[in-house]
Amino acid sequence: MAKRIKTGVQGFDKLIEGGIPQGHTVLVIGTPGTGKTLFTLEYIHNGVSKFKEKSMYITLEQSLDSIREQAKGIGLDISKLEKSGKLTLMHIPADSLGPHSIDEIKAEVRKRKVTRLVVDSLSTLAVNAPIYTPIKDIALRDIMNYKAFFSPPVLGDFVIKRFIYGFLTDLKSLGCTTLVTSEAPEKGEYLSRDTVSEFQADGVLLLTFESMGGEYSRSLLIRKMRGTHNDEDIHPLEISSKGLKVHTIK
Ligand SMILES: Nc1ncnc2c1ncn2[C@@H]1O[C@H](COP(=O)(O)OP(=O)(O)OP(=O)(O)O)[C@@H](O)[C@H]1O
Ligand SMILES: [Mg+2]
Repeated sequence: MAKRIKTGVQGFDKLIEGGIPQGHTVLVIGTPGTGKTLFTLEYIHNGVSKFKEKSMYITLEQSLDSIREQAKGIGLDISKLEKSGKLTLMHIPADSLGPHSIDEIKAEVRKRKVTRLVVDSLSTLAVNAPIYTPIKDIALRDIMNYKAFFSPPVLGDFVIKRFIYGFLTDLKSLGCTTLVTSEAPEKGEYLSRDTVSEFQADGVLLLTFESMGGEYSRSLLIRKMRGTHNDEDIHPLEISSKGLKVHTIK
């Protein structure tokens, strides 16, 4: 059985047989403000402080200072871990994203011998994919196969799907145990906006923040976890200045 990598998020690891199977890529999906970034920050912080893993946090959305501030809000001192040399924060701004970005990530992971990785968020990549995919890279055969030759919006959609597929394949090849956040559409038959990542990822966590009986409440559902007999309940998720806590109702 694969070694389990503990997230250290209170109440969570016991729901997935002790942790994420080593080397797996898990999507953390949710609408805005559901706790995706905070969940992944705890994963990374615990990786370094409790489990002695070399870790890297890549943000495609926020400045490094805003990430450090956000972590402080739930009691995590990211700067201290950075100084120890065991944690690397990396910001790849949207306007410098491109097919080369995965090579930059690969180089850093190998150089620093990173085993625990976060990418926040896949949605930023997806939005930018059509902009930076050179038209010469789109084979006519691919387009014909996609039955959308004369339809630019669908062509954009095709480019996004193909890019996300390639990006996740490359990430998996790094061998890290990786969390990737992704924005969920408010409604629809697919979990993610790009509609392909949930099939390709080894696991999917679904975070929600919904109104129930006039009150808003947060929850976490393990939607998929390959190779694991996972719990199937919807769990209340608590976020406080002390961090995240996954509750079990039974
Ligand atoms: N100390 C705290 N106590 C209680 N709730 C908090 C605390 N810090 C943050 N939160 C809640 O967590 C939410 C932010 O979570 P987070 O940034 O992880 O969401 P997200 O899913 O990454 O959102 P986005 O899609 O916008 O990036 C805030 O909107 C706030 O409601
Ligand atoms: Mg976020």
